[in-house]
Amino acid sequence: MSKPPQSDVVSCEEIPVDAENPGKGVVAIVTIARPDKLNALNSEVSQALKEACRWATDDDDVRVIVFAGAPPNPPAEGERAKPNAFIAGADISEFVGIDGNTIRQRFKSNAWEAIWHLEKPTIAMVDGFALGGGCEVAMSCDIRMGSERAKFGTPEINLGLIPGGGGTQRLPRLVGYGRAMEMILGGEMVDASTALEMGLLNHLCEVDELEQKTLELARNIAGKSPHALKVAKACVRAAIEKPMRQGLEEEAIAFAGLFDSEDKEIGVKAFLERTEAEWVGK
Ligand code: COA
Repeated sequence: MSKPPQSDVVSCEEIPVDAENPGKGVVAIVTIARPDKLNALNSEVSQALKEACRWATDDDDVRVIVFAGAPPNPPAEGERAKPNAFIAGADISEFVGIDGNTIRQRFKSNAWEAIWHLEKPTIAMVDGFALGGGCEVAMSCDIRMGSERAKFGTPEINLGLIPGGGGTQRLPRLVGYGRAMEMILGGEMVDASTALEMGLLNHLCEVDELEQKTLELARNIAGKSPHALKVAKACVRAAIEKPMRQGLEEEAIAFAGLFDSEDKEIGVKAFLERTEAEWVGK
């Protein structure tokens, strides 16, 4: 087990999958922590998220990765409290005076792609605003859990821009062409129940239950064979990235490949013997 990276703007916490059995690994909670700026994604956050992704990839104990936004700090005397946010977008202050070449370089190796390319399962835990680049971080995850105060939107159009972290591609794949067009062209936010109905959220929870429900889901997934999870994720991903004929071929090869894995023998034997599988991850 390696030490999780920590920075001023992103923290990584390890939650044991089973407190009694360290061999079952951990759920990593990666928290974006710039609450005074509604966790806006600046260059420093982006670098720290990429580092967190590298750590989560390299550390075999990490089974599932949850991305979250830090809650607001208590307001100073006489000041109004900041709202809760997952991430309220790319940091707009970093856009001033930036030309196309510079932004292209800056966005080339980005946090959205780092999250999207994680081979382990990922969950976005959205409590508050998930706007622009924040909505795109959530969409780069495999599953989205939201609280009643979750709000999604792609407001870039209001800045004379478009989504640049994969939003124009991932949003229509999640919610369909018409709803994606409405969000991207109109720039309006959708509330949590609309997000649920659209398929942008997998589950909508009460604020107080969001973390517990997210961890329940994460722990359930983390209890499966890490090897089979990786193969399953790659195959489902093929469904949205490749023609169906190719995806079916890849599924057939992957399915057969699992019959040569140790975890398949372990899983089948455990089922027949009514015991719990002790996965080895290969
Ligand atoms: N980039 C940089 N700073 C941001 C930000 C962003 N995307 N979103 C919020 N902030 C900052 C605000 O500038 C403000 O900072 P300050 O207190 O130092 O002035 C702080 O976060 C709180 O935001 P504020 O706008 O005062 O909160 P609000 O409750 O009035 O409004 C939002 C909340 C989310 C509606 C509003 O902040 C907003 O529209 N943010 C931008 C969303 C966006 O366009 N994202 C896409 C960017 S490409």
